[in-house]
Amino acid sequence: MRPLLATQSYLPSIISFFGIVEFSHSFPASTVLLSAIPRIEWSNCVQFDAPGLQCGYLPVPLDYTNSSGDTIQLGLVRISTSSPSRLGTLIYNPGGPGDEASDYLFGVEDGLPNFSATLLESYDIIGIDPRGVGLSEPIQCDPEIYNERVSLFPKTEAEFQELLRHNERLGKSCLELSGAILHHLDTINVAKDMERVRLALGDGEKLNYLGRSYGSQIGVTYAELYPESINRMALDGIVDHTQSETTTLNDEATAYEDTLNQFFAWCNTTTTCPLHDQDTRSIFSSILQTASKTPIPALGCLQTGDSACRSDVTSEEILANVQGYLLFQNATANYPGWDFLSLALLQAYQNNATLLSTELATSNMSWQYPTLAIGCQDWSSTPTLSSLLYKQSLTSITAPLTKGMTQSYYYQTACLGWSAAITNPQESLNQTALEGIPPILLVNAQHDPSTSFLWATGVQNALPRSVLLTRVGSGHTSYQLMGKAAQSIDDFLIKGRIPTSNTIVYS
Ligand SMILES: *[C@@H]1O[C@H](CO)[C@@H](O)[C@H](O)[C@H]1NC(C)=O
Ligand SMILES: *[C@@H]1O[C@H](CO)[C@@H](O)[C@H](O)[C@H]1NC(C)=O
Ligand SMILES: *[C@@H]1O[C@H](CO)[C@@H](O)[C@H](O)[C@H]1NC(C)=O
Ligand SMILES: *[C@@H]1O[C@H](CO)[C@@H](O)[C@H](O)[C@H]1NC(C)=O
Ligand SMILES: *[C@@H]1O[C@H](CO)[C@@H](O)[C@H](O)[C@H]1NC(C)=O
Ligand SMILES: *[C@@H]1O[C@H](CO)[C@@H](O)[C@H](O)[C@H]1NC(C)=O
Ligand SMILES: *[C@@H]1O[C@H](CO)[C@@H](O)[C@H](O)[C@H]1NC(C)=O
Repeated sequence: MRPLLATQSYLPSIISFFGIVEFSHSFPASTVLLSAIPRIEWSNCVQFDAPGLQCGYLPVPLDYTNSSGDTIQLGLVRISTSSPSRLGTLIYNPGGPGDEASDYLFGVEDGLPNFSATLLESYDIIGIDPRGVGLSEPIQCDPEIYNERVSLFPKTEAEFQELLRHNERLGKSCLELSGAILHHLDTINVAKDMERVRLALGDGEKLNYLGRSYGSQIGVTYAELYPESINRMALDGIVDHTQSETTTLNDEATAYEDTLNQFFAWCNTTTTCPLHDQDTRSIFSSILQTASKTPIPALGCLQTGDSACRSDVTSEEILANVQGYLLFQNATANYPGWDFLSLALLQAYQNNATLLSTELATSNMSWQYPTLAIGCQDWSSTPTLSSLLYKQSLTSITAPLTKGMTQSYYYQTACLGWSAAITNPQESLNQTALEGIPPILLVNAQHDPSTSFLWATGVQNALPRSVLLTRVGSGHTSYQLMGKAAQSIDDFLIKGRIPTSNTIVYS
């Protein structure tokens, strides 16, 4: 879920997305012990040396409730502007959970257009790798346990117990290899870390923030904790962390199914789709049917190396992976578009499912681990077989083709029996805390396979003064399209100009 998004490879996983809040441990922004917050030491990045690019570390408390406890190091990357029109600093998060903000900033230096030229001129942009991710003490787990194939759709008590045992063993391995940080990964901690970074910059500026996908959850959590500290916040691809587990699941399941239907229609009318003159929907069903009897061979997969993948593919895995391939209708620099998905389906139909195969973890460090470990502290789920059977029966009606296999469902199943407690379950927003917040800009595509348009409307309703800008079209998040939605985000972040409510754009 790299919220659903794999940045390193075309083999997806779920992409990115998705407070709350033990207010008892939070400090009002202005009274944080400033003297206790060290400055960030910036220097050239060892990973990537380029003018204007710097790396830094900031120690933060492992446990914000334990003033004599250990600290952990947050890794930060900054691209500075030397323009006279500099406005200040903007913090960026690309999603996941588990996506490395650092990687996106290195990508800019590598010529990838993650931000518009005017945004890069107006702000120093800082990417913070959230705790447990990338440069910030990444979570480690046992790859062999991670790679075990276990069904997330148990039908019997025995299958349910097998799932639980697997999750318990995996979680224990992560705890042994990563240590106590496994208990302190939730998004409340991530928001508190972001406040520490803001204060450590030492310039007295309020927060400017752009959060994509799961980065929107960080933004909303921050807003609830530090409403007075926000200057301008734009969120793109909205995770709603306020709904029940069933609503959360159903919203994402129907969003996935809806975008898949958009894909089928696209394929019918687009001559470059290799399935153009066929009934793509029935081909898709037929692939799933075949794979549910016997996994389809993935003839091109190696089981070692950077792009290791499973030697065959089940229908569950196909459903998990296709969600990731729907994220971008048109390919971008590093992400495949729908033409890639159609090729993958054609090959699977011809009995070679290599392109739909699941990425294997090959070491104690993999971006897949923080994605799971962070989600497991943020999303609660009823730990019974009957609850899972109920959800399966619900989504078999509301999402008949994709059956609810989503990032939400992944957390609702893969986290049962996890070794760290759910410290930040879904909860409605604290309206008292949010009374004074400035307007926040929300952006979502109508047909987003990951962060449902319903989630965006849910957050818009719960967040006072927020404005939702709708992009008509498909795909997960909009800024990177550099169209009208990106223009609106830039106008807001740079000029403070907020669109009127119910603005609709087509790019
Ligand atoms: C606080 O951290 C210290 C140092 O790691 C530890 O010994 C102590 O048990 C912690 N206290 C609590 C209440 O977690
Ligand atoms: C932004 O950078 C990341 C990491 O380098 C890259 O994977 C991604 O494709 C870039 N985004 C765009 C829109 O090019
Ligand atoms: C695509 O075309 C096929 C064959 O012409 C047709 O049966 C099917 O209904 C179409 N599907 C969509 C989603 O338009
Ligand atoms: C299977 O598909 C993969 C990916 O397209 C390709 O690299 C490989 O050569 C194919 N293998 C066979 C035997 O067709
Ligand atoms: C993808 O490109 C096509 C053709 O240029 C365009 O019509 C479509 O709107 C684009 N889709 C998205 C989501 O940007
Ligand atoms: C990975 O973890 C195992 C214990 O599960 C340990 O024996 C091994 O040395 C670790 N490998 C690396 C490269 O850290
Ligand atoms: C909601 O926020 C207010 C103001 O910050 C705070 O006093 C109250 O305790 C919070 N309520 C809950 C349930 O956390």
